[in-house]
Amino acid sequence: MEATSYRTHGCGALRLSEVGQRVRVAGWVRRVRDLGRFVFVDLRDRSGLLQLVALEESPMYAKLRELGREWVIQAEGILRRRESPNPTLPTGEVELLVEEVRVLNHSAVPPFLIEDETDGQEELRLRYRYLDLRRPIQQRRLELRARMISIIRSYLSQRYFLEVETPMLIRSTPEGARDFVVPSRLKPGTFYALPQSPQLLKQLLMVAGYDRYFQIARCFRDEDYRGDRQAEFTQLDCEMSFVTREEVLETFEGLVKTVFSELIGVQLPDFPRLTYAEAMRWYGSDKPDLRYSFRWEEVSEWARQQPVPFWKDKATFWLWVPQVKASRKIQDTLQTIAKDNGASSIAFIQQERGHRTSSLSKFLSIEELPLPGDGMGIWLTTEKLSALGAVRQGIIQHLNIPPETPWAVLWVIDFPLFEADDNGRLSAAHHPFVHPHPEDLHLIEEAPLSVRALAYDLVVNGNELMSGSLRCHTPELQMRVFRALGLSEAEAKEKFGFLLEALSYGAPPHGGCAFGIDRWVMLMAGAQSLREVIAFPKTASGADLMLGAPAPLEPEQKAEILSWLSE
Ligand code: AMO
Repeated sequence: MEATSYRTHGCGALRLSEVGQRVRVAGWVRRVRDLGRFVFVDLRDRSGLLQLVALEESPMYAKLRELGREWVIQAEGILRRRESPNPTLPTGEVELLVEEVRVLNHSAVPPFLIEDETDGQEELRLRYRYLDLRRPIQQRRLELRARMISIIRSYLSQRYFLEVETPMLIRSTPEGARDFVVPSRLKPGTFYALPQSPQLLKQLLMVAGYDRYFQIARCFRDEDYRGDRQAEFTQLDCEMSFVTREEVLETFEGLVKTVFSELIGVQLPDFPRLTYAEAMRWYGSDKPDLRYSFRWEEVSEWARQQPVPFWKDKATFWLWVPQVKASRKIQDTLQTIAKDNGASSIAFIQQERGHRTSSLSKFLSIEELPLPGDGMGIWLTTEKLSALGAVRQGIIQHLNIPPETPWAVLWVIDFPLFEADDNGRLSAAHHPFVHPHPEDLHLIEEAPLSVRALAYDLVVNGNELMSGSLRCHTPELQMRVFRALGLSEAEAKEKFGFLLEALSYGAPPHGGCAFGIDRWVMLMAGAQSLREVIAFPKTASGADLMLGAPAPLEPEQKAEILSWLSE
């Protein structure tokens, strides 16, 4: 913390080496403790806490006693060694013997404790976000965020990435969510969309020859918010030209390893890779949490030969979780999860100190089954692989299984290019600009759902941290994908004419990705929600409780805007 005319040091910076010096500090009063012969004040600024002290005989004694919580003060005096050090505090060996104090501002009584452990409920804290952000834990989180972004900037800048800003008022880009729109005053009846991502603009920068681009980009998606989603969030958005998928993965694996190492001192091993098909078959999820190694195995063929009536015509999967025991209640919970996620049956076997019990004992000779030791086994019959993932997550959560490693980072590759809704209508599984896998190009028209994409996700502890792909870089291939999605030539021209045109002017092969910065900081900070790592976040219902947004408009302004809409 820099010295200014208000202070010589930050509160948190003082140590034994400054003892005997005259120092001046400024900050907020955390609390005042009157011990009779002394009065103590804890003074807080962003750099930390310092204990101020005045003795009964000093004229400062009465002045410190009068201070209130969160008043802003300046104090000057001689730093001295504490008689009883506080080992939990970096400044715990020193205190400031106050000779002068100046009140710079008063404070109303804060509505909750400005401490790491606060008594304020989230709604109240969001309404008084500036007080919530004054809590040290919040200041550490936003510092972590800023440090992370500076490590990212330095890594990418050293590798020829150019930071470019793209506009906020654009035309809709399809990322699968609803757009926030802004009506145009100058062209009534027309609208800007706020970017769901800078996807098309970064591709145009590649056409323009910028070779490597990045941006810390604000994105807007009008969707239902959850713990890991916000309407307004930040991406690290990147794009590279003249690269293979392998080279993109290497570049960003390097970035993630550098951030983990420089930010939190964790050396990550090389990231394993799973194809989408493997991730679904083994973990029932395209973002598997590999901190837990147990995984599903398909046993349909064996199951069909067993005398279990409900195993005859469905795919059956087996999972073994060593050294756990599920109570009846937990088995019931897992059964509900399985059914809710479309599984047709679930059955359990438990071995405890060599003794076996199973819900299938009336069908199977359970003693003859080869089990690896004590633990729990599950058979699940399902056509929906996502049921495997839901039950696996249920096991982790309800049996409180401890992770085998603190960090599990992996690539999931070869996602499908298209997906179909219940009526068989195709849509882009990610977005419509993704390059199909070269081995599957011949399937685009005849078997689109079998086409794999040159796409990849980075998954950290079961969270999708980034997503990306190589892109269609010729207008012909891009048009083939549009056609498969049911867009006629005319519709494609109307919606994406500028892209098709740009691709026809010498677009280089290119690809890239975007990381969710908020998600990344949340994971690194060990925070529970995105709101904890965004300075001014919105609630689950999209409100800013401090600003009172969204808010109704003044009648004249509303009438004016409505007049633009109707033309
Ligand atoms: P995608 O839509 O997968 O890809 O987004 C990339 C990453 O952004 C984060 N993210 C979010 N974070 C918080 N709140 C949200 N509502 C939210 N939505 C997404 C996730 C996600 O992995 N243009 C492509 C990227 C590309 O192909 O280069 C895109 O936006 O961490």
